[in-house]
Amino acid sequence: MLRPILRLGDSILSEPALAVETITPEIETLIDDMIETMYAAPGIGLAAPQVGVSLKIFVIDLSFGKDPSALHAMINPQFVEREGMQLEEEGCLSIPGFTATVARPQRVVVEGLNRHGKIFRLEGEGLMARALQHEIDHLNSCLFVDRLRGISRDLILRKIKKLSKAGKW
Ligand code: NI
Repeated sequence: MLRPILRLGDSILSEPALAVETITPEIETLIDDMIETMYAAPGIGLAAPQVGVSLKIFVIDLSFGKDPSALHAMINPQFVEREGMQLEEEGCLSIPGFTATVARPQRVVVEGLNRHGKIFRLEGEGLMARALQHEIDHLNSCLFVDRLRGISRDLILRKIKKLSKAGKW
């Protein structure tokens, strides 16, 4: 089932997500819905708070659904390693229409649970490292605009405020 994607300004996006204690059938349905919603958007990653559920879960697929082995759902992710730095343009399904250059680690290793409760690791460089850091940021109530310096952050927030006032956000 598709779930609506919340936008910047929704309070759930600025709450730290809680760890998942038990993988219930509801959690499995949530993961399936997140995958469907990510593909429909389309996007390469989606975090549970973006669909209004403040739990530490994200889904990621850099192949947009073309390569089944590229799809991952991770519960309670934690960084194991983070190194280097990259500067690239980035966007977010919760901030449609805006992109900015964001500093991210060049390589990360993340550990968490799969939907069956088994520990696994995801490792990536470049775009994968960026996407993993971006999704885990969502679980810590951090959006890409929060990673920007004053002026570029204010510019985006001011434009969104305007759109919001006009009922277009
Ligand atoms: Ni995002």
